[in-house]
Amino acid sequence: MGNFPTIILAAGKGTRMKSKVPKILHPVCGKPLIQYVIDTVSAVGSLKICVVIGHQAHSVKKYLGNKVTTIVQKKLLGTADAVKIAGRYLRNHKGNVLVLCGDTPLLNKNTIKQLIQCHQKSKAICTFLTAFVEDSTRYGRVIRDEKGSPIAIREEKDASRLEKNINEINVGVYCFKGEELLKGLEAIKVNPRKKEYYLTDIIDILSKRGKKIETVTTQDHQEGIGVNTREDLAFVESVVRKRILENFMRQGVTIVDPLTTYIDADAKIGQDTVIRPFTVIENSVRIGRRCIIGPFARLRPGTRIGNNAEVGNFAEISRSELGDYTLMKHFSFLGDAQVGSRVNIGAGTVTANYDGRRKNKTRIRDGAFIGSDSILVAPVTIGKKAITGAGCVVTKGKVVPDKGVVVGVPAKLISKSKR
Ligand code: UD1
Ligand code: MG
Repeated sequence: MGNFPTIILAAGKGTRMKSKVPKILHPVCGKPLIQYVIDTVSAVGSLKICVVIGHQAHSVKKYLGNKVTTIVQKKLLGTADAVKIAGRYLRNHKGNVLVLCGDTPLLNKNTIKQLIQCHQKSKAICTFLTAFVEDSTRYGRVIRDEKGSPIAIREEKDASRLEKNINEINVGVYCFKGEELLKGLEAIKVNPRKKEYYLTDIIDILSKRGKKIETVTTQDHQEGIGVNTREDLAFVESVVRKRILENFMRQGVTIVDPLTTYIDADAKIGQDTVIRPFTVIENSVRIGRRCIIGPFARLRPGTRIGNNAEVGNFAEISRSELGDYTLMKHFSFLGDAQVGSRVNIGAGTVTANYDGRRKNKTRIRDGAFIGSDSILVAPVTIGKKAITGAGCVVTKGKVVPDKGVVVGVPAKLISKSKR
């Protein structure tokens, strides 16, 4: 349905963010803003996505890679100019085009589908998305004639006192008939106040030419939030976080306290796992079924946890795997570790995985028992059912044999366990 060209505007400076990082690369729940928009339009069925980049184009391009087409807007002359530049990408395209901003991560795919459907059904030249908000200050207002038809979008700086009272805003998602879009763009004049070409001026132009313009209004006004400031970023983060947690709860994961649980957008958690308060679960973490995580646990990217495992308070795990029924119940750090099943990681266990130059692996085989306060200086291997004594330091390169018992500093093999 939505399989027509999509232009995402993402070249802007994001001045109001006051950041050296391009606005659209700022993460929300571990995922850059722009990725939300790309994922949404992909879910709608858009196969041809063109992102207009400009400010710090190099780093944005580096992030986007070859997943989408990118076009560089060299001078940031406004949203209309950005679409014009993307026009090259539309060459020979006679059909419809979807245009949206890269800074609206809360957009729902169903709303965009609805917009496209309305546009196709009504045969309008332009259909755009609106929302009613309490505070419309930072948005373009929708101006309608006495019959209620949209005739213009007025940006804050240009709005009259009366227009400033309008609380129906332009979300920044538009469906255009391709040829009419390109023709309309030609007529847009530079905005005298901002010295930019506003895409939103096209509504006035098309309306004066008697072209049919439609709008779709979303009931969920939050959807339309554009991230322009750090406050917006924090607000959007809170909305996305809530959505993520609700989704997990619907899938059968217990979140004891949603207010103090932070889970990134692409984490996966199995049924009947319980997440206790003050827990942070970052990007790409995978947790199996029936685990207990937290309170106060931090699982960092690259962590994979099997089924029935427990990770307790003040545990930090990074780029590591934990097998089924493994317990790590008290303050410990595991980095670059491969831990088998039914392993006990004693309180205070630390993998010294970084030697100042590179990250090294720790392997802990099935059934091993790591005594409290063990330091494992990687690379190191602890064999199956082996035991490390409390307070020992297993030095770099050491391989503790299966069932071996090591104690002391540096750890020495003293016997074989009967476990
Ligand atoms: C824009 C709309 C406004 C709407 C709001 C919704 C215009 C003139 N105004 O305002 O009506 O209510 O979005 O969030 O379009 N960009 C470029 N090149 C440029 C300038 C901007 O690619 O030269 C990109 C930005 O990276 C951004 C998007 O266009 O992703 C919108 O620009 P932004 O400056 O955020 O516009 P708003 O002031 O939010
Ligand atoms: Mg914006």
